[in-house]
Amino acid sequence: MAEVIWGLATSHVPSIGAAMDRGKTGDENWRALFEGYAPARAWLAGHPPDVAIVVYNDHANGIGLDVVPTFGIGTADRYPVADEGFGRRPVPEVIGHPGLSLHLLEQLVDEDFDLTVFQELEVDHGLTVPLSVWTPEPGEAWPCPVVPLLVNVIQYPQPTAARCFALGRAVGRAIRSYGEDLTVGILGTGGMSHQLAGARAGFVNPEFDRMWLEAIAADPQRLARMSREELVREAGSEGIELIMWLIMRGAMADQVTPVHTHYFLPASNTAAGLALLDNRAPVAA
Ligand code: DHB
Ligand code: FE
Repeated sequence: MAEVIWGLATSHVPSIGAAMDRGKTGDENWRALFEGYAPARAWLAGHPPDVAIVVYNDHANGIGLDVVPTFGIGTADRYPVADEGFGRRPVPEVIGHPGLSLHLLEQLVDEDFDLTVFQELEVDHGLTVPLSVWTPEPGEAWPCPVVPLLVNVIQYPQPTAARCFALGRAVGRAIRSYGEDLTVGILGTGGMSHQLAGARAGFVNPEFDRMWLEAIAADPQRLARMSREELVREAGSEGIELIMWLIMRGAMADQVTPVHTHYFLPASNTAAGLALLDNRAPVAA
C-alpha cells in the first residue's frame, strides 16, 4: 500500500517563482518571505517521498476557459512547463506517475468523483511555484514524479469546500489501496486571501488567513463547512483557491503534527502562507 507521509499547503503566487528565477530572493522586499520557508525546506529535504500529488488549479494557461472541468487528473508520463506569456520558467519538466494516476482515477470514479482525464497537460505557476517553494534548486529534475489533481477555482460554480474535503478523504483511501509500497507527499496549493479584479481588487484578510492556517491542521471540518459565498466574502474571489488545501487535508489522518507554519504579507496581491504537516503517527514518548 502507499501512504501519505506529509502534506504541504502553500500559496502559488507567480512572482514568488519569478523572484527565484531571477535571483532576487535575498532582496530587501523578499528576504523575510524566503527565510520563512527555510525550516520547511530543510525538513522536506530530509523526507523525500516516492511520488507527490499536487492539488492545483490552472489559470487558463494549460487549459482554455472554454472547457473548465470541476475536477481533473493528469495521467501523462510528463507535463511540460507552460509559457504564461513571459517564456517558460527555467525549471525542470514535471515527470508523471501514470501508475498512481490511473489507480486514483479508477478508485475515485468508483467513489462517484467523475474526474476529467488529462492525457496531455502543460502545467502553469499553480503547480510549478509550489514545487519551487518545496525545492528551490531542483537542478536537472524535481525530487520525484508528480500526479496533478486539478480543481476549478476560477469560474463559478466552484466545488464546495465540503466536496473538496470529501474528495480528499477518497484520495486518501485510494492511496492506501495502491498495490505498491510508495511514500506520498501531497500538496494543497493556492491562496491565501486575495482578489485580483472588481470592486474589491487588492482585498486581503490577514485575520481570516491566520484562522485558516491554524484550522487546516487542527480543525479542517470547520473549514469544510464554509459556503462558497462565505469563502468569497472572507477570502476574496481568488482566495477561494484555499478549497484546494482541504483536498490535501482530507487525504491525511484526523490527527497530524504541524512541522512549520509561515505567513508573509504582502506577496504581490496576496499573502504567502505555508503549512507543513507530518502525517506519520506520533512516536510515543
Ligand atoms: C496572484 C495570485 C494568484 O493566485 C495568481 O494565480 C496570480 C497572481 C497575485 O497575487 O499577483
Ligand atoms: Fe492563483
